[in-house]
Order: sequence, then C-alpha cells, then structure tokens
Amino acid sequence: QQAHRIAVIPGDGIGKEVAPEGVRVLQAASQRFGIPLELTHIDWASCDHYQQHGSMMPPDWKAQLQGTDALYFGAVGWPSAVPDHISLWGSLLKFRREFDQYINLRPVRLFEGVPSPLAGRRAGDIDYLIVRENTEGEYTNLGGIMFEGTDREIVVQESVFSRHGTDRVLRFAFELARQRPRQRLTAATKSNGVAISMPWWDQRVDAMARQFPDVHIDKQHIDILAARFVLQPQRFDVVVASNLFGDILSDLGPASAGTMGLAPSANLNPERTFPSLFEPVHGSAPDIYGRNIANPIAMIWSGALMLDFLGHGQGAARAAHDAIVRAIETVLASGPRTPDLGGTASTTDVGQAIAALVASTPASNVL
Ligand code: NAD
Ligand code: IPM
Ligand code: MN
Repeated sequence: QQAHRIAVIPGDGIGKEVAPEGVRVLQAASQRFGIPLELTHIDWASCDHYQQHGSMMPPDWKAQLQGTDALYFGAVGWPSAVPDHISLWGSLLKFRREFDQYINLRPVRLFEGVPSPLAGRRAGDIDYLIVRENTEGEYTNLGGIMFEGTDREIVVQESVFSRHGTDRVLRFAFELARQRPRQRLTAATKSNGVAISMPWWDQRVDAMARQFPDVHIDKQHIDILAARFVLQPQRFDVVVASNLFGDILSDLGPASAGTMGLAPSANLNPERTFPSLFEPVHGSAPDIYGRNIANPIAMIWSGALMLDFLGHGQGAARAAHDAIVRAIETVLASGPRTPDLGGTASTTDVGQAIAALVASTPASNVL
C-alpha cells in the first residue's frame, strides 16, 4: 500500500500548538488502522518566514509540494507583525485558489457534554454542514482606490461569480443533501440588497434544484438565516453559501455549538487534480498563544476528515475517521477539557487523551 503524502503546515500562533496534537492523533490512527502516512513538516507559510524572507512562501513552494496528497494546515496570521491581507493572500488563500479547492466543507455539531450558549439546546439539536464557495465571490483583489488620501477618496471592491464556479459548488451541496436523511438544503442569498450577483445566484440555485427534485430547497436571505442559526438551528441540514457569507456562518455556527475550538474544515479539490487542505476554522488566536491552552480538537477532527477524504470514505480510512470522532465524543463527554470549554486541561492533555483512545480502538472497530 502506497503511503499518503501529507505536508504538515503549522503556520502561526496556536497553529504551532494544535498541529503537533493533530499529528499525534494521525500517527496513532495510522498505526492502529494500518494506514501508511508520510508526513513532511513545513515551516514556511508563516509570518516568521515572512519576517525572515519578505514573503510568506518560497518561490518554489509549488515544486516543493509536488506529489503531496494533502495539506494539514494549522492557522496563519500575526497581525501585529504582518498585515492580515498580506499573510493570508500569500498563503492560505493562495493554496485555495492555486489548488482549486473550491469546496470548503465545515461541519457544525453540538456534542454531548458541551454547553451551548443557546438556551435549552442539547446534543443533536445542532448538526449541519456548511458548504462554502472557496475560490471566488466576495474574496477578490479586484478594484482600487481613487483620489487616495483626499476627502474625495473612493474605494471599489469587486465580487466575481462565474457560472462554472457557482454551479460546481451548488451541485456539490445538492449531491451532499441528497445523501442525507433529511435531504434539506438551505441556500444563503441577499438578492434583495445586492442587486446583480445575488439575484443571479438565486437563478443558478433554481436551475440546479430542477436536477434534484428529491432535495427540499430553501433560499434564505443571509440576515434572517443568521438569526435562524440562533433561533432554530435544528431546521438546518446542508447550507450552501458564497465565500463571504459562508465565512461568517461558519464562525456563528461553531460559536452556537459551544466554541470555535471544535470546528474543522475540509478545503476540497474534489477531482483530486490538486491536493486538498484540512484545517481548523479558527485562526492563530494571538490572545491565547504561548500558554498551551488552545483546544486542539478542531485540528484533530480536521485530520479525521483528511484521512476519510484520502481513503475515499471507505475501508480503513473510514474506520479511522470514525474512531477519531468517537474519541473526540468520549473526551468531550468525560475527559480533559481546555479553558474554552470551562476546563483546566492543556492542549497536550487533550491531544494525548484522544490519541490514547484511538490507539486502543477495540479490534471489532478496526477493519
Ligand atoms: P481566531 O479564530 O484566531 O480567534 C478568535 C477567538 O477565538 C480568540 O479569542 C481565540 O482565543 C479563540 N479561539 C480560536 N481558536 C481557539 C481554540 N482552538 N481554542 C480556544 N480558543 C480559540 O480569530 P481572529 O482573532 O479574528 O484572528 C487571529 C488571526 O488569525 C488573524 O491574523 C486572522 O487573520 C487569522 N485567521 C486565520 C485563519 C486561518 O488560518 N484559517 C482563520 C481565521 C483567522
Ligand atoms: C477562514 C478564515 C479565512 C477566510 C481568513 C483567514 C482569510 O477566516 O478560513 O474562515 O476568511 O476564509
Ligand atoms: Mn473565517
């Protein structure tokens, strides 16, 4: 069996603290389930690298990643040293675009034993998948500033929605919704205020819906959709959104499910022409970096998504994914917890507890 080749990119801040715990769990899973992994540690794509070399990544970054199957990514950003748009356009956003990772899949789930800030919500009430468009939309560097520095200053920032880019993310979301028991898809829009792109987006949703008559489709303006994430989270199953709307929803959802410290994401190039990228939804958290208190579960769950994707959702990889998620469930119900969950455990404690559970997965759960 050929080893999966994974580039581990910790990045900045707590990325450097949670990545080793993710790797610890990956190695435990690799051993227990007989999944060969070849991990390469990369210290560029970081603000440290920028401060030494004046760029986030070396000029031959693509060549260095040649033959890589997946990127396992911590977080990038150190705004006190490097402006965020420089560090992120020079690393994470570059990967998403150059590797055509047009799906950003972000599960949101309220676990047993985790308090939700929403009154009366219990495990199972919040359980949905956000499908975020990941290469176009509102994230562009098109536009400019006129009359700069004068009081006539004008700023134009363009959005880009291609038919190809929109249809492929919608198709992915419809196909995902079709496979789930509830077969429900919510499409975020803002066609009342954003007068060109969003009415057009709604038309593409309607056109795609005709090919998926079994999926219950529901278009909601982003403002009320955000409100319903809080008021009626149980009505959501799969949610599809443009790049910016999906970004905002994918912090709101995890916050409603207790903490940013649990939320994973899969930046997918479904065709596998390029490597996909797996990372927590959260950032480098400068406010808590250096104390070994960051919650590593978002990173660890992202690793489980990576194994599942690399193994095409089958066999040992699926079993390893399931074992990691079960270990997360067990630790959240009755194991060590970091301060974001009201505990006093360290990042390392939580990583070790999950890795130990994965390593001792009963034979009946190992393929
Ligand atoms: P952030 O997600 O880094 O932090 C927001 C808040 O959540 C902070 O209070 C932080 O302490 C807390 N938090 C985040 N992850 C946590 C974890 N695992 N455990 C416990 N608490 C956690 O968002 P921010 O403050 O807006 O951004 C900080 C930097 O990270 C910026 O440079 C930003 O651009 C960058 N960022 C990067 C990514 C990424 O690489 N994918 C994502 C978001 C933000
Ligand atoms: C995320 C992050 C990134 C985004 C930033 C850091 C550019 O917030 O992955 O959600 O906006 O996509
Ligand atoms: Mn975000």
